[in-house]
Amino acid sequence: MTTTTKPTYEQVVKERRSIRVYDPEVKISKQEMHELLEEATLAPSSLNLQPWRFLVIESEEGKETLKGLAKFNQRQVETSAAVIAVFVDMQSVETTQEIYDLAVEKGVMPADVRDRQVPAIQGMLKDIPKERLKTMNFLDAGLAAMQIMLSAQARGYATNPIGGFDKDHIAEAYGLDKERFEAVMLISIGKAAEVGYQSVRLPIDDLAKWV
Ligand SMILES: Cc1cc2nc3c(=O)[nH]c(=O)nc-3n(C[C@H](O)[C@H](O)[C@H](O)COP(=O)(O)O)c2cc1C
Repeated sequence: MTTTTKPTYEQVVKERRSIRVYDPEVKISKQEMHELLEEATLAPSSLNLQPWRFLVIESEEGKETLKGLAKFNQRQVETSAAVIAVFVDMQSVETTQEIYDLAVEKGVMPADVRDRQVPAIQGMLKDIPKERLKTMNFLDAGLAAMQIMLSAQARGYATNPIGGFDKDHIAEAYGLDKERFEAVMLISIGKAAEVGYQSVRLPIDDLAKWV
């Protein structure tokens, strides 16, 4: 009998590295991808608006479209089990009521708190400049993206975050409203077929100061 032990948190963060070639025979079931995204969306977000949206590109047709949009990252597109395109919904304020209703329904927020917060959030975001909203949304999506990579690593898959793709045209290439859905990054995911490169990090003493 074989037993599989779950990697520790330390192993997950220390062993993750960008992998750009995968075993093309290994697919990820819709159910597992669903679970993985569920874990990823436990990430925190501004006002809990969860502006991240995901397009799981796994079909031959979907990959073919992506090849034309990610010309310098062809191997990841071709060999991965899937590429997750992370977008933000620039109109996520429209889901405020739904999210806060759900919190009340699940018993994690009193109704009077919801009734105060929903109009306050809607009022706050009504006139926010687009660039500020985009910064806020991209920050949130980055947290979910990192969590996708860690969740994948914990499940024995490898990933590569990819910024090198045509961000201006990907939404419409998949039939999404490009004014509403802005592309953040791609994440290729699959079973590693290479060891990848080691990379270095700057020393913490150069990056952090204590006051
Ligand atoms: C936002 C972002 C965009 C990236 N874009 C690409 C890319 O287009 N192609 C690629 O091969 N790697 C890309 N990378 C991967 C980085 O090169 C890699 O994370 C970095 O060299 C550190 O290596 P590691 O991920 O193995 O720790 C990207 C990483 C991030 C965070």
